[in-house]
Amino acid sequence: MNFVDIIEKKKTGEALTSEEIHYFVKGVVSGEIPDYQASAFLMAVIFKGMDRRETFDLTMEMMHSGDVIDLSSIDGIKVDKHSTGGVGDKTTLVLGPLAAACGCKLAKMSGRGLGFTGGTIDKLESIPGVSTSLSTEQFVSQVNRIGLAVAGQTGDLVPADKKLYALRDVTGTVNSIPLIASSIMSKKLAAGSDVIVLDVKYGKGAFMKDPAGAEELASLMIDIGTQAGRKMRAIISSMEEPLGFAAGNLVEVREAIETLNGKGPDDLRELCVTAGSLMLSESGIAPDESKAREILTDALNNGSALNKLAEMIKAQGGEPECIFDPERLPSAPNTMHIYADSDGYIESCDALAIGCAARDTGAGRIVKGEDVDPVSGVIIHKKSGDKVCIGDVLADILYSRPLGDQIPQNVRNAFKIVPEKTERIPLIYKCI
Ligand code: URA
Repeated sequence: MNFVDIIEKKKTGEALTSEEIHYFVKGVVSGEIPDYQASAFLMAVIFKGMDRRETFDLTMEMMHSGDVIDLSSIDGIKVDKHSTGGVGDKTTLVLGPLAAACGCKLAKMSGRGLGFTGGTIDKLESIPGVSTSLSTEQFVSQVNRIGLAVAGQTGDLVPADKKLYALRDVTGTVNSIPLIASSIMSKKLAAGSDVIVLDVKYGKGAFMKDPAGAEELASLMIDIGTQAGRKMRAIISSMEEPLGFAAGNLVEVREAIETLNGKGPDDLRELCVTAGSLMLSESGIAPDESKAREILTDALNNGSALNKLAEMIKAQGGEPECIFDPERLPSAPNTMHIYADSDGYIESCDALAIGCAARDTGAGRIVKGEDVDPVSGVIIHKKSGDKVCIGDVLADILYSRPLGDQIPQNVRNAFKIVPEKTERIPLIYKCI
């Protein structure tokens, strides 16, 4: 087979055979296909797409390009979740313990922050002592013991995605529905769970800019997972504004603790209860989603979900006391308030701008492999639909290194203040 012919074929919009897709993935992993040819191929996919059969084949080839985790020694139905990412998305920190407190077995592999989006692993590791580097044996044994583990990738999972994602990141080829679907689903399938709940985001702070695109992506991922024998559900949710109020690392951990304490922001709580209700009903723990919501709400209100987070923190090397008393967690030495300079209503609070500002304070990375600052970030105080008067605090910037002028200006500009009240966009567009 000649890879130039395969590039030409995709360039003219023809569907590739399973053998051609196998040849591509194998060649990328072995290095026989050089980066420039792989990049040309990815760009052809950006313009000509892939049909569902090609995307399924690509996903399976990528999934089998490395280790596949065997969770069969964990009793019960194993559940996983994936969010396509965003700003202030601390869902795993809440949903993981919440679902585990209700009887789910949650074996979750998470990632670090990418660009302006935060990552669960950075947030967890900002808690002193916590380790997310678990061997596959430790990971499986912890889920068996306490029902929950959140780890960075164990083993050599989906090396094809590592190579392809790094190439896509620097060749303008991230935004393709078949490429995103195969990248996410190859990792989810290799991670071995029986039930997978996806949170596919749309909006300013997401890859997909509108609900229709997010739904197309979600429906493709559901098809792939179902065809691979998994139970699949998806939520389409808005990432026009940050989720909750905090964007950063420890600031998000604190907000997650508040939510597990039966308080916390309404949008975060609603998203976690909705995702949890899909997990509990699909794994047979609850007879339907409405009963599942009751069980989950009880676990948030009676302390069992918070206890489960403390158990996980202890199992992964941290001090569980800081979960019950978050004052013990480190905090930023400096705070700058950002004030409203006109009266009116918030029309929008741009998730992308807040995510970039949080990253620029040191909560995320500008350069690959950098350490993140656990204490810095942004806390917003107003969201769309809120009334504001001149002098009200719109947001706080928490920082531990010199801030400069640009970050505060960017945070102020993230808020659009208009004279008339506008409706807030509903968080959840639909569940499928
Ligand atoms: N997340 C992934 O893991 N892959 C993509 O392609 C996009 C988001």
